[in-house]
Amino acid sequence: TARYAVFGHPVAHSLSPRIHQAFGRQTGIDLVYEAIDAPPATFADALAAFAAAGGTGANITLPLKTLAYDLASTRSERATRAGAVNTLVRRGETWHGDTTDGVGLVRDLTDRRSLDLRGRRTLLIGAGGAARSVAPALLDAGVSELYVVNRTPARADALADALGEPGVVHPRYFEQLGEMGEFELIINATSAGRDGSVPALPRSLVGMRTDAVDLSYGEAAVPFLAWARAHGCQGVIDGLGMLVEQAAESFELWHGVRPETDAVFDALQARNI
Ligand code: ATR
Repeated sequence: TARYAVFGHPVAHSLSPRIHQAFGRQTGIDLVYEAIDAPPATFADALAAFAAAGGTGANITLPLKTLAYDLASTRSERATRAGAVNTLVRRGETWHGDTTDGVGLVRDLTDRRSLDLRGRRTLLIGAGGAARSVAPALLDAGVSELYVVNRTPARADALADALGEPGVVHPRYFEQLGEMGEFELIINATSAGRDGSVPALPRSLVGMRTDAVDLSYGEAAVPFLAWARAHGCQGVIDGLGMLVEQAAESFELWHGVRPETDAVFDALQARNI
């Protein structure tokens, strides 16, 4: 039986083991998938021990995605663009790093929610690891403009520079939000919701057709999505669908089979697995 794991800190409440076990049952693939708590200081050792014990694939979650990027010997182009790794694939004696977060988000928005992202004026709030992981995929999905705002302006500038599409990507200050007009897609990629808060956002961001997405799910998504509802956003979407889709993409990288995600998504939403 092949061994898989998700590494994070904390990681006890990760849904990834349940998702991958459900995918395994569905596709008839026998696998062991566990959650391994690893603080950043000991992550490299924990990963080496996992490989020595037969680990062949790993998901990486907060706060280890940039460390995983550094530990990978080779990386996919999309991981390099994102500067983050959420999926490790054992190749011989080394790890290959990839990121499936961005395609996971886009697949959830386009396939599950039937949103057409092409031509959308988009606001990305946050410029940390989560924002970096999804920004390249949003550009690939055809958003017309991507405005990036962040509490620490230098990080918004750095993300915009790294994306390398100055005609499309525009860093802005939080203080400018009131004069930036309406957006068709607003994505909260900050971790503020994990402390139960949300950055102060003006009503003027919301137009007749604005969809709002929080990359987190559960309690952490509540503050921003409550703001979105109160201000008349049309779609109000949390990150649970993205979580399932990034897992499916990782599963396919490891097993060469694409699992069906709808049943697993429904079960998770109903808190049934
Ligand atoms: P993650 O991997 O979840 O993105 P991160 O890399 O630590 O974690 O980034 C957290 C993001 O949330 C950053 O954009 C951070 O803004 P700063 O770069 O200024 O730190 C943002 N963030 C966290 N708490 C916030 C708050 N209370 N208000 C606004 N932004 C916040």
